[in-house]
Parts: sequence; C-alpha cells; structure tokens
Amino acid sequence: MEDSTPKTKEELAAERTKQLLRVVCICKGISLGKVLDALPGCETVQDVNRKAGTGTGGCRGERCGPRIKTLLQKYKEHAG
Ligand code: FES
Repeated sequence: MEDSTPKTKEELAAERTKQLLRVVCICKGISLGKVLDALPGCETVQDVNRKAGTGTGGCRGERCGPRIKTLLQKYKEHAG
C-alpha cells in the first residue's frame, strides 16, 4: 500500500535527489529523475527515448527499455 501522507519540503527534496542520482539508462548516464520528467504526454517507450535521450546508447535500449516500459505503465496507471 502506498503512503499518501503529505511530504515535507525536505522529504520531497531528498526524494528528488535520489531520483537524480539513480541511473536508468546506464549507457547514456540518464537518471530516473530525467526519465520521470519525460513521461507526461508519452505513449510509448520510443516517445520517452526521444524526450529523455534514453535508448540510444551501446545496448540500443536493451537494458533501459524494459525499465522505462515499467515506469511508463506505472505512470499511466496513476495518471489515469
Ligand atoms: S542502458 Fe539505455 S541505451 Fe543502454
């Protein structure tokens, strides 16, 4: 179950910092924060790749593609 308690400014800043430090696309060094920022308006992993710059590294999205797909699915579930 998800915690819906409103977060303090400090908690939000800590969460954002973690997102910026966590890398989703290893080849290109693109963070979770950047991928999350790109999700609004995206329908496919390719849309996210175009906006965030992911999927264009040496593995051609082999490693980050499935993670981005999951993030996009979760985003759509929550965005309604
Ligand atoms: S991990 Fe994203 S292109 Fe390789």
